[in-house]
Amino acid sequence: MYYITCTLIVQYKFLKSLQIFKVASFKDFYNSISWDILLTLVYSNWYNTLAENGGILMQELFNDYIQDMETYIMFRIKETVAKLTPELTAKNRAPISLSMGAPTQAPPQGVIKALQKALEEKGIHTYSTSKGEKYFREACAERMKKRFGVDINPDTEIYSLIGSKEGLANFIRILINPTTNKKEKEIIMVPDPGYASYKEMVKVSGGKAYSIPLRAEDNYMPDMEKVFEKLIANGNNPKKVKALLINYPNNPLGATATLEYLKSVVEFCKKHHILLISDAAYTDMYFKPELKPASIFQVDEAKDIAVEFFSFSKPYAMTGWRLGWICGNAEAVKMFGKLKSSLDSGLFKALQKAGAEILNSEEGDKYIEQSNLMFRKNQTLFVKGLKELGWKNFNVPDATFYLWIPIPPRYKSAVEFSDDLLKTSGIVVVPGDGFGEYGKGFVRISIVCPEEQINEVFKRMKEDGFTFE
Ligand SMILES: Cc1ncc(COP(=O)(O)O)c(C=O)c1O
Repeated sequence: MYYITCTLIVQYKFLKSLQIFKVASFKDFYNSISWDILLTLVYSNWYNTLAENGGILMQELFNDYIQDMETYIMFRIKETVAKLTPELTAKNRAPISLSMGAPTQAPPQGVIKALQKALEEKGIHTYSTSKGEKYFREACAERMKKRFGVDINPDTEIYSLIGSKEGLANFIRILINPTTNKKEKEIIMVPDPGYASYKEMVKVSGGKAYSIPLRAEDNYMPDMEKVFEKLIANGNNPKKVKALLINYPNNPLGATATLEYLKSVVEFCKKHHILLISDAAYTDMYFKPELKPASIFQVDEAKDIAVEFFSFSKPYAMTGWRLGWICGNAEAVKMFGKLKSSLDSGLFKALQKAGAEILNSEEGDKYIEQSNLMFRKNQTLFVKGLKELGWKNFNVPDATFYLWIPIPPRYKSAVEFSDDLLKTSGIVVVPGDGFGEYGKGFVRISIVCPEEQINEVFKRMKEDGFTFE
């Protein structure tokens, strides 16, 4: 009886969440009970889950926003690959990952040595602050000056991050007034295709992510006034728009933006009173010195309206260290600091010490240069291999370590193609759908693997018949 009551509650919540049946009261619900669904639920996994949990509806204790969230696509892929590994290995197709957006080489030697040295320092093992040690913030400011020629005040315009993912998620959280009312939701405009976490960060903050389509025909630099007109035409209230999030160079497209375009984006944000969030995680991964990706602060007066996020993860292959910084508008940084001061106690000081040291060192710059040469070489090998297999029309980007390629026309979806490539050849790519609705029909290839693996990828694709046509 107890389980049936629980199952009834589940059904009630389920029907309500679907909003198919306008269940306003328990009486309405009683009249609308579909006993067949109820019986199915009783004998389904739900029943088993309830029984296992001693009758507690654990899921029901969590808020509506987390119920709506998707598990990060990379974790889902990792789990599938782990399950298939024995079977693939047995048929000589052990998985080769072209899915992770993370360099595979070791970080610079200097940063490791600096960490080892820092570990011995007196007082290094105690709490830091969420703001970051002064030497860390000063090193970040120096980097901003050296790399982009911009002045950032290390005391008021910089805050340390536990990786830019943490920073972005918490920053979005302080912008949005959460609501479950769909019409009242505040909006963050995000690139599509774009980093999969953006939309989830907005969802769990109780807001709505509005997709900005990035299209090849406008060089992935959409006219923001037109996007805004469309947003209004689609029935959205422009007053609900809190921020515009941009990411150049872009994950997954590798697209870069001109300084001219960044200027127009700053103007757009100022005109509409929208905060500008620039995710600059890939600004150091570029192939042509004359096309060095810019910081948003190279645009005059961008600081009035913008913040920018930087990360050690990609340029120094330090993804596990979780080091980054936010900089820009002092008021925005201060607001962010209020939240962070209660959420965390900052980064381990030894990591900050080592990070600060590599950031402006000759070794750090050389390391970035060498990595970019290697990515460029890998890109050439991938482009050659894909062309030999019949891929003709795809963009070869000037930045990042990604390729964004269309799926062969015989497949119905990118998920179907990725699935086939994995199950047949053990090659792991990411279906474009994971980066947004405008990612359909494409897959993202990460080109960070060693050369022998690239050769193996194309050997397998040829043997297993993975041609474009
Ligand atoms: C566009 C973009 N932004 C931010 C991040 C997060 O980087 P991290 O948290 O390691 O600094 C990633 C990671 O893949 C990314 O692709």
